[in-house]
Amino acid sequence: MLGLGIESSCDETSLAIIQDGKEVRSFVIYSQIADHAEYRGVVPELASRAHLEKINPLLETALREANIQISDLSYVSVSSHPGLMGSLLIGAQLARCIALTHQIPIVAVNHLEAHFAVIRLEEELPNFPLLAVLLSGGNSSIYLYHDFGKMEKIADTMDDALGEAFDKVSAILNLPYPGGPPVERLAKEYAETQEKEVASFFPKLLKDAPSDSLDFSFSGLKTAVMYHVQRQQLEIDARKICYDFQNSAFELVLRNVKKAVKKTGIRNIAFAGGVLANGTLRNEIETISKRESWRVFYPKKKIYCTDNGAMVACLGYYLFQKGHRSPIDFLVSPKPKIEAKL
Ligand code: KG4
Repeated sequence: MLGLGIESSCDETSLAIIQDGKEVRSFVIYSQIADHAEYRGVVPELASRAHLEKINPLLETALREANIQISDLSYVSVSSHPGLMGSLLIGAQLARCIALTHQIPIVAVNHLEAHFAVIRLEEELPNFPLLAVLLSGGNSSIYLYHDFGKMEKIADTMDDALGEAFDKVSAILNLPYPGGPPVERLAKEYAETQEKEVASFFPKLLKDAPSDSLDFSFSGLKTAVMYHVQRQQLEIDARKICYDFQNSAFELVLRNVKKAVKKTGIRNIAFAGGVLANGTLRNEIETISKRESWRVFYPKKKIYCTDNGAMVACLGYYLFQKGHRSPIDFLVSPKPKIEAKL
């Protein structure tokens, strides 16, 4: 069975064709990072225009690379929420055109859930329920993942998302956008040259949080970085700032995951989202999983951490198998939940 996945919820236009929910026949992506870099954030109007320009040529490439005709598809899945309205509409319209002209069923999917589905392209996941930890530019959340299509949020960020904090710290330090890769690189350089542990510039995050609170907060840390840079002016050591920032942020993430495991008793944990491209975070997840006897899963290919069509095609496959079909006038929404017509 062949399925097409269409992702256009934010700043990546990406399509993938997969076979039987497992084999990737083609994968194409246009990243708009360069289009938004000068604004240090995604400009919605520019994003929708870029999706509109790229999506049809990308569909042609995806079909050619998979060596199939559109009519060979059994389903077309598309991110319908959450995301930027103008951007979501471009992917949605393409899905509708394909469905109408070729009588192919549509499966509209939650793009946050799709981030976890992509792991299934690389390895088997254990039976539900899972704990699902999403760390991206717009989300820092923990979910109780009951079944396909059923995610219950049990933790959120009270302010900035973790990826957003990386982007802001990078801006404070005059490093490029997006901030994750340059901040990770400087932190790694510091770690490699450091001979002995030096006290962190920044305090432990949410150190007085109640033992049952799983929520995150990263904006205080970002502000601490800003004040530190202002105080030190010319003498700042950007590498140590990045190192301490990363350590503080990841310590809170893993502390709260540990609390979530204790609260739910679930030890099978899927991690996903753009921040999972961070090698230090991946290593820390592996280390803690051994100590705590967790089974952990995250996308091994870094391209699967970011928004992509393969994750949409993969979630679409499982929902399609369970009988999900969306009407031609399915809704798109900036919100993580759509109440009707999915
Ligand atoms: O999931 P994603 O691709 O898309 C959105 O949420 O829009 O996540 C993008 C975020 C950005 O904030 C970026 O700085 C962060 O993921 N990111 C990283 C790394 N690579 C990307 N954060 C930390 N370390 C990285 N290596």
